[in-house]
This record gives sequence, C-alpha cells and structure tokens, in this order.
Amino acid sequence: MPTCGELREAGTPGWHRCSRPGCIGWGTGEGSSCPTATSGWRHGERGPGGSGPGPLPAVAMVTAAARKTAERGKLMDFTSSVIVPLLFGSLGIFALFRLLQWLRMRTYLQEAVVVITGATSGLGKECAKAFHAAGCRLVLCGRDSEKLKGLVQELCAVKNHRKNPHEPHTVVFDLSDTKAVVNAAEEILKALGHVDILINNAGISFRGTIVDTGLQVDKKVMETNYFGPVALTKALLPSMIKRRQGHIVAISSVQGKISIPFRSAYAASKHATQAFFDCLRAEVEQYDIEVTVVSPGYIQTNLSLNAVTADGSRYGVMDKTTAEGQTAAEVAQVVLNAVGQKKKEVLVAGLTPCLAVYLRNLCPRLFFTLMASRAKKERKAKGS
Ligand SMILES: NC(=O)c1ccc[n+]([C@@H]2O[C@H](COP(=O)([O-])OP(=O)(O)OC[C@H]3O[C@@H](n4cnc5c(N)ncnc54)[C@H](OP(=O)(O)O)[C@@H]3O)[C@@H](O)[C@H]2O)c1
Repeated sequence: MPTCGELREAGTPGWHRCSRPGCIGWGTGEGSSCPTATSGWRHGERGPGGSGPGPLPAVAMVTAAARKTAERGKLMDFTSSVIVPLLFGSLGIFALFRLLQWLRMRTYLQEAVVVITGATSGLGKECAKAFHAAGCRLVLCGRDSEKLKGLVQELCAVKNHRKNPHEPHTVVFDLSDTKAVVNAAEEILKALGHVDILINNAGISFRGTIVDTGLQVDKKVMETNYFGPVALTKALLPSMIKRRQGHIVAISSVQGKISIPFRSAYAASKHATQAFFDCLRAEVEQYDIEVTVVSPGYIQTNLSLNAVTADGSRYGVMDKTTAEGQTAAEVAQVVLNAVGQKKKEVLVAGLTPCLAVYLRNLCPRLFFTLMASRAKKERKAKGS
C-alpha cells in the first residue's frame, strides 16, 4: 500500500492534512493516516476511523485563509516599505554618480590640448572625431599632410550640438625618425604652449616567421611602435612635469599581454610598450601625471593590410579576424571614456582574448600548448 507522507498539523488542533502534493485529505488525532495509506480511502475523503472529514473543515479553511491573507499583507508591506524605496534609492544614487562622472569628464576634456599620432586612418582618425566632439583642441599627427588636411576639413564641417570652435593643428612626421619626432614635439609646444593629453596611437603590424625575418624588419616595427612613442613621450614629458599636469595614453594591444605565433615583432613591440608605460605611470604619479594603457583586441582597420612581412614588403591582406573586429568608432569611444575617467588600463576585447590573457598568467603550460597547436594549424593552412 503506498503512503503519501506524514500528516501535518493544519492550524486546528488535532486536525492534520496530508502533505502529498495535490491531496486534500484530512484526519484527526495521532496516527491518523493518509487516505491512500488505508484501504478503502481516497484522497479528500473521511478515514475508516470516521474521526475526520475528508475535505477541509470550515473553521480550518477560515483560519488558513486568514493566515494566507495576513502573510500576503506582510509581504506587500515589506515590498512597499523596504524594497521599493531601496530600489529607487539605488537607481537615484547610480544616476547621480553617472552624472557627476560625466560632468567631471566634460570639464577634464573640454579645451584640453590633445595630440593624436596616426590620425590619418583607423583608430587614430576615430579618436580625432571623438575628442573633437568632446571639445578638445586637437593636434593631429601623421605622415601624409593631404590626409591630415582632409581630416581637418571633415572635423570642421561636422555640425554637432556643441560645435568645437578650435580648428585642429596638424604636424607631419615619421615616428621611426627619432629626430623628426623631437622636432615635432618642439613644434607642438611652440604652437600650443603645452600638451594636456598625448595619445600614442600610430603603429604597424607584422606577419612572418622569426626564422625568415630580417633584423631590419624587427627594427622597423620596434622603431614605429616602441621607440617613436617613447621619443615623443620623453620630448613632451618635461613640460608636463613642469606644469604638474598631463595625461599620456599608449594604444597597445592584447598582443602586449600575450604573444601569438607569426606576429613576433609586433607582439614584442607591444610588450615593450606595456612595460615602458607601466614604469612611467609609477614614476610620474608624484607629478599628478596620468598614464593609460589601452589594449584592444581586433579592430576593423587597415592594420593587417599595412602590416610588414618577413622581407619588409606590405602584407596587403585584410585578415578575417581584423575584418570581424570591433569598429574603430566603438574603440575610440572606449579610449575617450578611459581618458575622461583617468583609467590606468583598459582591455577592449572579446571573451576569448580576455580568457587567453588570464590563461597565460594562470596556466602558462596550457597556453603554450594552445599557441603551438595554433602555429601548426596556420603553417598547415599556408602549406609551409
Ligand atoms: N586594428 C587592430 O586590430 C588593432 C588591434 C590592437 C591594437 N591596435 C593598435 O591600434 C593602433 C592604430 O592602428 P589601426 O588599427 O588604426 O591601424 P591603421 O588603420 O593602419 O592606422 C595606423 C596609423 O599609424 C600611422 N603610422 C604607421 N606607421 C607610421 C610611422 N612610421 N610614422 C607615423 N605614423 C605611422 C599610419 O599612418 P599612414 O596613414 O601614414 O600609414 C596610420 O595613421 C596601432 O597602434 C595598433 O597597433 C590595432
């Protein structure tokens, strides 16, 4: 004979209710058993002892209903007196916090002199648009004066609600020419008096095997991605220290934190960038100078097209990963917010690159195995 569970007291002394889901059987006294436990009983019916009615007795029903109503009332009281004010209070505090953050950011960026390298394309160009819209006085740097002039016209033609009255200044130089970099810094300081924010954005990528790559190629990548930004930073730093004010931004890469096969020179230059600017942050904190390192994953730009190969020639291929990356405008907005909020470091990447960064630190052996298998796969795909 199946039993359907213990009998529980149901509010009226001596009355018990079957605890089986859906059963409405009732009985009285100790040992009253569930209807289904005794032959001839059905759920909701009187037991063989005849001491209890099957369905809920009227008095017990009234008591149970009153208790339920009281419980519901208590819950509603708790919701209206505690949860609702707490919810609205938290929302209010959050909104106030965001407003204050926005006002602080606006004050910090408006009228700030912002130098952007590599402004002729990709992320640099989008940063120029974002910082211009934020009211900054821009200094756009690049190798191609025509492209820079075109960008200035584009920015001045934009009709935004807070039109920026400052026409951007342009400076033409090649980052791999250290002397030209130092001259450019002097020109910028002469023209604008000071620099509030320096965004070291320009860079080139690399594709090739280490064994086939000439040292000249490694040097070229390091000069553009590492020595160029370092030279520009060093040339502008004394004036920032003098003013005890300034913000230096390095656009690094996820590859400044992990190394991917066939990108050796690029990954090395970005690791060096990360290390240099981390040291700088610690050294200039005493002068109230901020340092932000931004490490993006893939961005939809011409970076892979312009990458250099083992023999120094242009790669000229739009990689699938680059084409499927974040838009440059999205990443530029992240850069703007990171600068406005004086963040020390930002990783702007999807889940897989972020996990890879953690894996490299937490479980290096597994990371190395994965990278070796990636190298094998890429080699096989290229038939080499
Ligand atoms: N795209 C990505 O997937 C990705 C991911 C992570 C990090 N990043 C980083 O983002 C930054 C911007 O790259 P991007 O993606 O916007 O690529 P991009 O479209 O190729 O832009 C690179 C910029 O750097 C300039 N540049 C290159 N070599 C230079 C040199 N020797 N002197 C002066 N300027 C030079 C280029 O000027 P020209 O127009 O004269 O060539 C161009 O304006 C780079 O530091 C890159 O490493 C990119």
